Order: sequence, then structure tokens, then C-alpha cells
Amino acid sequence: MSAIEAGAPRKIDIILVAAVAENGVIGRDGGLPWRLKSDLQYFKSVTMNKPMIMGRRTFQSIGRALKGRTSIVVTRDADFAAPDIVVAPSLEAALIAARGDALRRGADAIAVIGGTDIFAQTMATADRLVLTIVHAHPQGDALFPDIDQAQWREIDRRAHPKGPEDDCAFTFATYIRRGAA
Ligand SMILES: NC(=O)c1ccc[n+]([C@@H]2O[C@H](COP(=O)([O-])OP(=O)(O)OC[C@H]3O[C@@H](n4cnc5c(N)ncnc54)[C@H](OP(=O)(O)O)[C@@H]3O)[C@@H](O)[C@H]2O)c1
Repeated sequence: MSAIEAGAPRKIDIILVAAVAENGVIGRDGGLPWRLKSDLQYFKSVTMNKPMIMGRRTFQSIGRALKGRTSIVVTRDADFAAPDIVVAPSLEAALIAARGDALRRGADAIAVIGGTDIFAQTMATADRLVLTIVHAHPQGDALFPDIDQAQWREIDRRAHPKGPEDDCAFTFATYIRRGAA
């Protein structure tokens, strides 16, 4: 009898999805320090039909719930509200809501989409890092946590040339936790 037939709980991965410059910068003044249309399409394909967990500041930089995904916004502000989002008062509450949403959708992963504050709190428990390495060194005030090479193993790398609506070239890179299957 398989684990599914036996009723074992289904594994739902936590994936961190981020665009990170070569100097670790992910944001500036509450927004992105670059324009990368091709990466937005990649972000859409990675997150589609999944629950997405984000910090309140990242939600406000996006400005709205994104179609086809559940936007779970973490904030300590009990009065925070916006159309078509789920508000969570803690990261733990966000993860519980995300897991329920993933089970309902039949999704195999929860996408954590930032920003710095939320990445820092989820890096230790994440299963996968789905990164866009942006080939630039912009100034910024939001950084991605250091990737400890002893903890993470790169399993995929695809270079992408600068498209007509991109500021620069970039590379898609996926990491899994060392020791994971
Ligand atoms: N390049 C990328 O891939 C990428 C992705 C995402 C974001 N960004 C950039 O990153 C920047 C935003 O990052 P950020 O670190 O400033 O903000 P953030 O992580 O998006 O949001 C931080 C907020 O989340 C809430 N929060 C965090 N931890 C919490 C917890 N444990 N319990 C309850 N609430 C919690 C708090 O909201 P309250 O203050 O409301 O309590 C906190 O102020 C922007 O520049 C954005 O453009 C870049």
C-alpha cells in the first residue's frame, strides 16, 4: 500500500521565490531596483495555483492580490485588510493557512515570496530556493539572506539573455537542502 493510500499526510514543500542581484539586493525604497519583464513571467509560472506567503510591505509594493494564487499577508496590524487576501497575524498562522489552501488546491508547495523580513524567518525551514540571479549590482535597502553552500545544493541553472523589456541578463537557479531526496 502506498503512503497516499495509507492516508499519510502529503508533503507540501516550502519554496522561497526571489529575484536576487549579485550583491544580494532584492529591493529599494519599498520596490524592486530593476525592471525584468521576463522574470515576472517566470514568477507567475512558479507561483501559479499555489498559496503565497508575503510580508505586509511586499504586499503593499505589489498593490493587489494576484490572480490564480492565494495571497496570504503577514502583519501584526489587526486592522489590516485588502480585497481578496488572507491576513495572518504571525508566520505560524500564515503557514497553517497556506497548508490548508495547498491541500484544497492540490498544490505541492507553498511559495514564500518575501521580502527580507519574511525570507529571513523562513530560510531555516525552507525546502527549496527558486531564485532569479539578477546580473547587476544595484544599491538597495532589502537583501536576501546569505545562502550557506553547506546547507544548499544547486540542482538547476539556466542562463537567460536580456530581453527587450529587461534591464539586464539573469539566471534561473534552483537549490534544494542538502540531504533532501
Ligand atoms: N526581489 C524580490 O524577489 C523581492 C521579493 C519580495 C520583496 N522584495 C522587496 O523587499 C522589500 C520589502 O521587504 P521588507 O523586509 O521591508 O518587508 P516584508 O518582509 O515584505 O514585510 C515586513 C512586514 O511583515 C510583517 N511581519 C514580518 N514578520 C512577521 C511576523 N513574524 N508576524 C507578523 N507579521 C510579520 C510586518 O508587518 P507590519 O509592520 O504590518 O506588522 C513587517 O513590517 C521591498 O523593497 C520589496 O520590493 C523583493
